Amino acid sequence: MSENETEQQREEGGHERPKRQYTEAELAEMSRDEKMRLGLALDDVELVSYQDPWPVEGTRAERRAERAVAAWFTLAGLSALAFIAVFIFWPWDYVSPQEGGRGYLLYNLYNPLIGLFLGLSIFAVGAGVVVYAKKFIPHEVAVQQRHDGHGSDEVDRQTTTAILADAGDRSGFARRSLIRRTLGFGAGALGLGTGVIAIGGFVKDPWATEGPDSLAHTAWEPEKPGEKIYLRRDTGDPHDVSLLRPEDIDAGGFETVYPFRETDREDEHKLAEVLRRSDAPVMLIRLRPGSAPVRRKGQEDFNYGDYYAYSKVCTHVGCPTSLFEQQTGRLLCPCHQSQFDVVNTYAKPVFGPATRPLPQLPITVDEQGYFVAKHDFIEPVGPAYWERNA
Ligand code: FES
Repeated sequence: MSENETEQQREEGGHERPKRQYTEAELAEMSRDEKMRLGLALDDVELVSYQDPWPVEGTRAERRAERAVAAWFTLAGLSALAFIAVFIFWPWDYVSPQEGGRGYLLYNLYNPLIGLFLGLSIFAVGAGVVVYAKKFIPHEVAVQQRHDGHGSDEVDRQTTTAILADAGDRSGFARRSLIRRTLGFGAGALGLGTGVIAIGGFVKDPWATEGPDSLAHTAWEPEKPGEKIYLRRDTGDPHDVSLLRPEDIDAGGFETVYPFRETDREDEHKLAEVLRRSDAPVMLIRLRPGSAPVRRKGQEDFNYGDYYAYSKVCTHVGCPTSLFEQQTGRLLCPCHQSQFDVVNTYAKPVFGPATRPLPQLPITVDEQGYFVAKHDFIEPVGPAYWERNA
């Protein structure tokens, strides 16, 4: 007997510890029960009590417990399916409070519903697992002596496997097909739901619709050649048309503006809709006389005198850059404090996480003295864009 083995078999604290070294043949000869008990002994674990939760199979109480677990997993599956259905089919397009009605109610329910069903599904899977563990995993009371840890050797691996397999067997998981099926349904549907979240945003082909609705253009794109796109302020009434002239803004002041086309004047739906288009808002800024910001190459004539128009959508992650600090001449984004210098440069970011200048809208004044856009932006607005070079 080796010195090592002698030491391992030495009596400690009044009981003999089993040897640690076994040949493959010895391990193969042991039953699972023997391995389980050997594993406990090797870990200095004393099993005080190890009760089979259902010593008599098929009782009414056992079936009731089984149905309780199955009910949780079924609820998880149904919630996950409801989540997927709401995520895909619910009308999520923005509806303003002014439009009100059923559309406004449905729009407002979208986020609460997807949160409710996804949360309920995750909760129900967790609850089902907890109930299963409480009702079907053998109830054991064990005492383990503390000792220094060491790496797992073959006997540890096999005895641990035996312990886990024994617990699994005693819980009757293999023969409880109702629980297995409902767990598969609940966890499967939940997995499908999380997959829908991951790939849902990629399903729409941005090039499927060419023209003004294509994601390559913004609301400032004329719908037909020569169409005038005016700069319109938001007065709070989505059906009010208030166009801007240069004298409407004081030096150092600014205004948030939206596109307006004459053909929409009588169309209340379009007048309201353009105010909520994410690519539409623009900051029209009047710099103080004498300001001479550096122009961007190829955009030297995008301003009208001291008036400059920049997309209001932050190039970081898309918040509205709605604060203009007159003293420093910077546009501020309140979300992560990006700052864009409009008094010295072409709205280049000078602070914060944004890395791209705000896109500039080319503007001029028509023969009646109203501001109009010369054409659409020449680069994508907003934070992210596929197929962008810089
Ligand atoms: Fe503007 Fe982050 S969204 S700084």
